[in-house]
Amino acid sequence: MASSSIKKLSESLNLTSNIPSNYVHYYFENPTETTAADDLQDSIPIIDISLLTSDDPDQRSKAIQDLDKACQEWGFFMAVNHGIPEELMQKMIEISEEFFNLGEEDKPEFEPKNVLEPVRYGTSFNTAQEEVHCWRDFLKVFVHPHFHSPQKPQAFRDALLEYRAKMRELVGKLVKGMSQGLGLEDGEMEAALDMGSSLQIFIANLYPPCPQPELALGLPPHSDHGLFTLLVENGVCGLQIEHHGKWVHVNAVPGSILVNISDHLEIFSNGKYKSVSHKAVVNDGRTRISIAMVNGPSLDTEVCPCPKLVQKDIGGAIPAYVPMKYKEYLLYKQSNRLDGKDILTQVK
Ligand code: OGA
Ligand code: NI
Repeated sequence: MASSSIKKLSESLNLTSNIPSNYVHYYFENPTETTAADDLQDSIPIIDISLLTSDDPDQRSKAIQDLDKACQEWGFFMAVNHGIPEELMQKMIEISEEFFNLGEEDKPEFEPKNVLEPVRYGTSFNTAQEEVHCWRDFLKVFVHPHFHSPQKPQAFRDALLEYRAKMRELVGKLVKGMSQGLGLEDGEMEAALDMGSSLQIFIANLYPPCPQPELALGLPPHSDHGLFTLLVENGVCGLQIEHHGKWVHVNAVPGSILVNISDHLEIFSNGKYKSVSHKAVVNDGRTRISIAMVNGPSLDTEVCPCPKLVQKDIGGAIPAYVPMKYKEYLLYKQSNRLDGKDILTQVK
């Protein structure tokens, strides 16, 4: 079990140090691993969110088609013209960094036992279950349906409230666009997933410089549990997504928001939209900070493949996933090791 933060560990090492053996990931155990395909970076879809609500019907339907295609073929896209002011994203990253720089006495309890604790600070992913730890510290805060915030830094609360408000607008636009892409009625997806009470978790990730970046991982391959995650970085790259069996390095368009489709949208769309496997790599030069907003249905929603989409499927109207309450899925996932799309495969 990791007993302290990666921030502390990295500060105790220098550039020529070997990292402790319980941070060494063995790549050869993973058969899908290939080198990052940088040439594919060029084809990562970019979606202009403002066009989803354009007054021009042709522009609008083209944008919805593009979004639908990105969700089906990549499970990932970069959102531009998304309506979140750049200064606000910047502010949220800076205040997250301030949080990690606080003394331990000013932070919430390190590694609380309960995974539904609304404000959680910790390291790696699940240090009690995993054999190899990740080069990452995190802060996870439930911000909807009930808003929480760490006590310090003092300005965190107001920044997070503002960020949540803007993010909810974006979530609304995305859900509407996806629902149209899937051929559903207005409001149908929102109702089925009880989006008015939707769970939103704000996550700040800290990846300090690592003297042996090729041996460690910020986060191993995994998919996220919600509907989709909205990620913003501090200008330092590190996210890789799996596409057609290759790892594609994501070089974010400046000011963009990285969107990855997650397990519950794959379930709801009966597999039409793909929950993308992704990981975070580390480097030996600069500290990387990313802030993620995980957007799920409401915790009490039992999510099943949308009946209308099952009927439309060619080759038999069979739901490909068993219904499960989002809360139970989340508890199950959080109490296991991170291992690709393992948990999603189990409900198939
Ligand atoms: C996550 C995640 C990737 C990153 O928080 O679930 O995948 O690049 N983060 O920080
Ligand atoms: Ni993730």
